[in-house]
Amino acid sequence: MKNTVVVPYTGTPEQENELKEWLIENKDMQGLTMPALQKAQEIFGYLPRAAQTIISEHTGVSLEELYGIATFYSMFRLYPVGDYKISVCMGTACYVKNSQNILDKLEVLLKIKEGETTPDGKFSLESCRCIGACGLAPVIMINEDVYGRLTGDELEGILAKY
Ligand code: FES
Repeated sequence: MKNTVVVPYTGTPEQENELKEWLIENKDMQGLTMPALQKAQEIFGYLPRAAQTIISEHTGVSLEELYGIATFYSMFRLYPVGDYKISVCMGTACYVKNSQNILDKLEVLLKIKEGETTPDGKFSLESCRCIGACGLAPVIMINEDVYGRLTGDELEGILAKY
């Protein structure tokens, strides 16, 4: 299972109630599961376990099945986005310049896997497609900041800036 990092739950009772009310209002909808997960992500910004539990209770779909759907579709996030979102470009130009090595090193430095957020909520790590800076490959973005021509050795220094 991919759930290796425990991020503190930051959802509120108001958010939980909003989801419950939506589920009650839409209980007769055909194929409710996907729209319910989308609604939960809209409300919480990601799919916390608490939201999955509420959906499971209202739809009868098991938590295992919900988890399977949430991990299958890339639009769903199981972790909140960190204050600093690190995107490692995996477009062709970056890939041939070994951006996988950059991603691997970031996973080691941050002690999280791609798609996860550090337990303090500071950094989240993901891969992305070409960001239009191929001449600087391999490239990462941290929020709006672009760093290119990376070898991997500079990553610790870059992270320390944030
Ligand atoms: S492929 Fe990475 S910036 Fe274009």
